[in-house]
Amino acid sequence: MRNDLIPQAAQRIAELKGYFVDHERFVPLAEGFSILAEKRLVDIQTERTSEAQGLALSGQAGAGKSAAISHLLAQESQRLANLGYGDSTIVSLRVPSPATLKFVGQMLLRALGYPIGAERQAWYIWGLVQHHLKERRVLFVHLDEAQDLASRGTKHELDSVASMLKTLMTDPEWPVGIILSGTNGLEDILNHDPQLARRMKTIRFESMSPAAHGEDILDLLDSYCERASLEPDDDVLELSHGERIVHAAANQFGIAIIVILDAIEDAFLHGQDTLNRHNFIRAYHRRTACDAEFNPFIVPDFLRIDTRQVFSRGARGE
Ligand SMILES: Nc1ncnc2c1ncn2[C@@H]1O[C@H](COP(=O)(O)OP(=O)(O)OP(=O)(O)O)[C@@H](O)[C@H]1O
Ligand SMILES: [Mg+2]
Repeated sequence: MRNDLIPQAAQRIAELKGYFVDHERFVPLAEGFSILAEKRLVDIQTERTSEAQGLALSGQAGAGKSAAISHLLAQESQRLANLGYGDSTIVSLRVPSPATLKFVGQMLLRALGYPIGAERQAWYIWGLVQHHLKERRVLFVHLDEAQDLASRGTKHELDSVASMLKTLMTDPEWPVGIILSGTNGLEDILNHDPQLARRMKTIRFESMSPAAHGEDILDLLDSYCERASLEPDDDVLELSHGERIVHAAANQFGIAIIVILDAIEDAFLHGQDTLNRHNFIRAYHRRTACDAEFNPFIVPDFLRIDTRQVFSRGARGE
């Protein structure tokens, strides 16, 4: 590795990270959202009010939920701004911890540009939230890591947050659509509250499998190589290598992109103009600190490795 190449590699990787992969799994999400947005716009134009609807996106850690939603929301808020609906139609925030009714309200108020001290009561804070959502003509509120609504607060808190989300969606004057994204715990929240669930469209980013998606991932690898101006060696375009990437990524689409980008970065750092297996081997080691016998780019029976684990040591290291 050449230290003099670090700044240039960092620059080139930052550019590659800015690129969003418009994968087929993105289509139902984008369509689902467009339908919600159009319904709401029709209501506004015709001065009717009906309940707003929401959208819930679930998937395992690293599936690509946050990346997909933030890409979608950036696109949509630009489109809504161009249509003349203002530039704050969508407010997005990560569920804070602890996810109490009061704290979620406080963070939402801050995201709306109205920070308020903690001494106020929850009902007062949420009154202000409703007021500012209407004043600023916010159409959608997005909460990422929504599974935390269930994990940190008590059951009572979960009930009150869920009922507040319903209140926002059914506000007679200014209903607001709620978008939730999170890991599988989010599904439990919706199943816990049927009234919330029936107001939501649900989409799941499924996990991949090496057998079914090895080929797809090779296409993805090829397109990243092209963007990176690297020539892939034959050994990284073999089907088994695609399967190794899927497995190394714990079957998650977003992690597969990280695995590919890490290998590309390794090639940049070595001043290469090709991408080879050794780049994947080293990059995996650097990310996980696992010994060679736990590196899915080295061992023949790579499917036996638990690639969610980091720091895995061989017999000698134990
Ligand atoms: N469509 C995409 N195009 C480009 N990069 C992506 C895409 N999807 C995911 N990624 C990359 O994969 C990484 C992991 O994805 P992301 O953070 O969206 O996963 P997540 O499902 O939100 O995971 P978590 O549940 O852990 O929050 C992101 O940092 C992003 O760089
Ligand atoms: Mg995320």
